Amino acid sequence: MQLPDYVRIGQVQKGLAELLQHSFSAIAVLVDENTYQYCYPIVAPILPQGHQIIAIPSGEQHKNLQTCQQIWQALTNMQADRNALLINLGGGVISDMGGFCAATYKRGIRFVQIPTTLLAQVDASIGGKLGIDFQGFKNHIGVFQLPFCVLIDTSFLATLPWRQLRSGFAELLKHSLIADWQAWHELTRAHHLQDVDWQKVVHHSIAIKERIVSQDPHEKGLRKILNFGHTLGHAIETYFLENRPAEQGLLHGEAIAAGMIAEAWLAVRKTGLPQQEFEEIKWHLLQLYGKIAISQHEIASIAQLALQDKKNQNGIIQLSLIEAIGACKYNVPATVKELKEALLAYCQMPAEIHDNNGTSIDQVGM
Ligand SMILES: NC(=O)c1ccc[n+]([C@@H]2O[C@H](COP(=O)([O-])OP(=O)(O)OC[C@H]3O[C@@H](n4cnc5c(N)ncnc54)[C@H](O)[C@@H]3O)[C@@H](O)[C@H]2O)c1
Ligand SMILES: [Zn+2]
Repeated sequence: MQLPDYVRIGQVQKGLAELLQHSFSAIAVLVDENTYQYCYPIVAPILPQGHQIIAIPSGEQHKNLQTCQQIWQALTNMQADRNALLINLGGGVISDMGGFCAATYKRGIRFVQIPTTLLAQVDASIGGKLGIDFQGFKNHIGVFQLPFCVLIDTSFLATLPWRQLRSGFAELLKHSLIADWQAWHELTRAHHLQDVDWQKVVHHSIAIKERIVSQDPHEKGLRKILNFGHTLGHAIETYFLENRPAEQGLLHGEAIAAGMIAEAWLAVRKTGLPQQEFEEIKWHLLQLYGKIAISQHEIASIAQLALQDKKNQNGIIQLSLIEAIGACKYNVPATVKELKEALLAYCQMPAEIHDNNGTSIDQVGM
């Protein structure tokens, strides 16, 4: 399957050495404290002397205008001109925000994504969406702009905390559920994330996303299928952010896994997903992600949050729902009542799951 022409998978040192054969007037590397510690030492020997490091604190709470100002200020201080290069070395926060800063600095300088989380490798760094959060709204300010190139090296995943790895894995599962049933069966065959051949599955997952994005780069239609699981998933993510203590915080992929279960339940009713395929999806996702504890009195607030989703049109909720494993529809209208029913169904699913022999399986730490 084909990768986008701006993406290289392999040893980052090799990709970077090739890239640096182009001439740039200055080079800056954007990192957070973790990617500075774990990822920068891997690329530093390849970078030319005199490159600048721009370090920002890690975390979604810093993906905002204030941090952008610091990045633009650092570029200004180093007198970066239109021929400068910004290398975004990190997860999706770094690639979204660094890309946005580069695309707007002096009306646009070249930038390279070196994604270092699984989520950024298969999702955030692919497809050209850049942006930041604004006044509590996720990815509210941003632009579409493809990077000069994306260098993907799955050896960065070795230092990634397991929970982050599992979170990114939800997007791989999503790509397979919406567009490639064979990939779903391959991904769900692995018993442990340690057993996964990352280079192979990351390559395949990017190719799936590319096949979708290249047909609809500005999300007028087909690209919306990438939002499967995200209407309810985002709502759950936002609800937890606003109403639960930080130690109960959810990672993006954890919320999306729950969103995919609830939306698949709705898909059985609205787009004809076979019940047996729903059971299979539910089983695998609950086994890997466990169940998020949502109580019934929280359902109405979560459903209300889903109403604010950017993808809705004229106040009507538009869902992307699978019809079968590997096939997805978009612009499926839904009511708040239906969203509440799906969330209730999720709440009422037994947290305890059993394998085919009826043996209880340990829940993964939620
Ligand atoms: N643009 C898009 O199309 C798109 C798609 C999906 C998600 N996103 C965005 O991506 C962001 C989430 O990305 P994320 O999950 O990568 O989060 P992140 O960038 O916050 O990274 C997660 C954590 O892992 C650390 N980290 C990164 N690489 C590491 C490594 N190799 N070893 C050890 N630690 C490492 C980071 O410092 C951070 O603490 C969200 O802001 C989301 O909106 C964008
Ligand atoms: Zn996502």
